[in-house]
Amino acid sequence: MSEQVFPVPDHWAETAKITEAEYHERYARSLADPEGFWSAESQRIDWIEPYETVKDVSYHEADFRIGWFLGGKLNICANALDRHLETLGDTPAIIWEPDDPDTPGRTLTYRELHEQVCTFANVLKANGVEKGDRVTIYLPMIPEAAIAMLACARIGAVHSVVFAGFSPEALAGRIEDCQSNIVITADEGLRGGKTVPLKANVDAALEKVEVGRVIVYRHTGSDVDFHAVRDVWWHDAMEVAAPLCDPVTMDAEDPLFILYTSGSTGKPKGVLHTTGGYAVWTSMTHEYVFDYRPGQVYWCAADVGWVTGHSYVVYGPLINGATQVMFEGVPNYPDHSRFWQVVDKHKVEIFYAAPTALRALMREGDDWVTRTDRSSLRLLGSVGEPINPEAWDWYHRVVGERRCPIVDTWWQTETGAAMITPMPGATALKPGSASRPMFGVQPALVDPEKGTLLDGATSGALVITDSWPGQMRTVYGDHDRFFQTYFSQYPGYYFTGDGARRDEDGYYWITGRIDDVINVSGHRMGTAEVESALVEHPLVSEAAVVGMPHEVKGQGIYAYVTTNAGTEDSEDLRKELVQWVRKEIGPIATPDILQFAPGLPKTRSGKIMRRILRKIAENDMSNLGDTSTLADPAVVDDLVANRPQ
Ligand code: WTA
Repeated sequence: MSEQVFPVPDHWAETAKITEAEYHERYARSLADPEGFWSAESQRIDWIEPYETVKDVSYHEADFRIGWFLGGKLNICANALDRHLETLGDTPAIIWEPDDPDTPGRTLTYRELHEQVCTFANVLKANGVEKGDRVTIYLPMIPEAAIAMLACARIGAVHSVVFAGFSPEALAGRIEDCQSNIVITADEGLRGGKTVPLKANVDAALEKVEVGRVIVYRHTGSDVDFHAVRDVWWHDAMEVAAPLCDPVTMDAEDPLFILYTSGSTGKPKGVLHTTGGYAVWTSMTHEYVFDYRPGQVYWCAADVGWVTGHSYVVYGPLINGATQVMFEGVPNYPDHSRFWQVVDKHKVEIFYAAPTALRALMREGDDWVTRTDRSSLRLLGSVGEPINPEAWDWYHRVVGERRCPIVDTWWQTETGAAMITPMPGATALKPGSASRPMFGVQPALVDPEKGTLLDGATSGALVITDSWPGQMRTVYGDHDRFFQTYFSQYPGYYFTGDGARRDEDGYYWITGRIDDVINVSGHRMGTAEVESALVEHPLVSEAAVVGMPHEVKGQGIYAYVTTNAGTEDSEDLRKELVQWVRKEIGPIATPDILQFAPGLPKTRSGKIMRRILRKIAENDMSNLGDTSTLADPAVVDDLVANRPQ
C-alpha cells in the first residue's frame, strides 16, 4: 500500500494557492534568495516598525545565535484580532463545540473575541502582570484558553500553557521553572462526560510552589475551594475591567510563549518562541498547508496544551482571519460518530487531527463514519506521529471518500509549525510520507554515528541545515541546554531527534524518534521522566522505561522496575506503581506494561542496555543481540521468561 501514489486531484491543481510548479519555484527561491522570499512573506503581518535584517543566524558554538526580522516591531494579538475588525468583525472566529452535544455551544465573532481579549488583558494588568512576566495557563478547551493566551500576547506577558491533563506535580514543576506568579484555570474541565478537577489540581500544585494570584473561570459551576486572598473569579474581574486595551509594541525577538516538552534527558524543557518569526511562520504555513481562505470553516482538533493548539488553533488561523471550530470533547463521546457529527453540524471543510484518534475510531468500524454526511469536507490533515498506511487509507477512503487530500504534517514543538508537509494543490501523496519540505526548510539526513551528510535515496538521522523563522530560540533559563540538545550532536545542524528515510522522489518518511523520547498517542514523553517518577516511589530502587508498539497509541509505555530488597513484587504493588506514575505526571504517562525486574541488563560499566529492553518490550526475543558483554547475562533470561503477555 505504501507504494501507492495519489496524484493531486484536478480541481485542487486548478484552484489551489500553491500548485506543483509554484511549489518548486517558491521553494527554490526561498533557498536562493531568502531575503527576498521572507521580505515578501513578512508582508502578511502588520508591523508597527519594519525590521532591518531578515535573518541573523549561526548554528556554531562560537557565535551561536538565531534571530529573525531583527529590529521589527509588532503585536501578534493585534495581528490576530484588531486588523480583522473592519472586514471580519462580524465573522465567527471561534465556534465552540462543548463536550456534551446537548448543551449549547458558543460562537465568538472577531469583534466579540477582541473585546474579551482586551478586557482580560486589563484583568491581567489589574492583577499586576507586566510585560515579560510569565503567566501559567491551565485551562480546558474553552474559548477562554485562547482569550487568556491572546491577552498575554497583547500586553507582552509570556504565556506558559500547561495541558489540563497534567498532574499537580507536573503543573508545580512548570510554574516553578518559569517562575510565574499567576495561574489561570477553571473550576473543572469536562471531557467525555467526566469532570477534571482543575482548580483542585492547582490548589494541590500550590502546596509545593507559591504564586500571588489564581484567576478561576467558572465552567461547570461545581463548588471549589476558594483561597480568599489569592483566588479571583474570572467573571468578577471581567465585570470591573475596561473593554479597551492598547496592544503593547513588541520587538520581533521578544518572547511570546514558553511550552514545556519532553526531551531524552532530565526534566521537560521550556521551549521558548519569540514573536515576529513565529507570527510569519504560523500564518504562512497555515495558509499554504490548508490552502486557507477566510470564510472556510477550519477545525484543528488538537488541545491548546500542545504546540499544535498554539500554532494551529490560536495563532496561525486567527492571524489569517479564519473561522474555526474549537472542540472541548473527545472523539468517542457520546459515541464514535462525534467528530463527524461536529463536521456536519458546523459544515467543516478542513479537518486536522492526530493519527491516534483515527486509529481508535477505525477500530470501531466504518458505520460510525458512513452514517454521517461529511460532504462539507474538502481537506484532511494529520499531525503528531507517523500515520501508518492503514490509518491513512481509512482516513482517505472512509472519512474523506477519496475526495479529500491528506496533508501529513511533520513538525515539532521546537519548530513552531509545519516543516515537512504536502500542500493539497502541489503534492502527489504517498500514504505514510510527510513528503517534501515547506518553503525555507532544508532537511538533510546524516549518518547517525559519523554525522556525515548522506545523499540520494537513503535513511539517517533527520537534521535541518539552516534556520527558519519559527524556530525555538532557547530553552527557558538554560541557553546552554538548548545548544547541547539540538546543535552539539551534529555540529552546524539542528538535530530533530527523528530518524527518516528519503526516497527517490525526494519524499521524506519519518520513522520515529531515535532518542529516548517516545510518542504516546501523539504526546511526547521522555523515558527519563517516567523513570524518575517511578524511582521517587519509596519501594523502587531502579527503573528503565522504553517504548513498545501499540495498536492505537502508536507507542505504549513499557516500564521495568527493580524494587528494594525484601519487597514483595505483588500485583497490588504493580497497580500502585501504575497509579503512582499517573499521579506524578498525568494519565498520558500511564505505563501499559510494568514488569518487575530483579535486575536490569547492564554493561560492566553500569550502563543500562536499552536496546535489549526495547526488544523484549517489542516481544522480539529472536533478536536480542550479543548479551555476553553484560555484567550479568542471566538477567535477560529472567526478563524474557517473565515478560507479561
Ligand atoms: C513526531 C507535534 C511522523 C516526531 C507537532 C516529532 C511526526 C514529534 C509527525 C514532535 C508526522 C510529529 N509524522 N512523526 N507527521 N508529526 N511527529 O513536539 O517524532 O509534540 O519529533 O510536536 O512528533 O512532537 P511535538
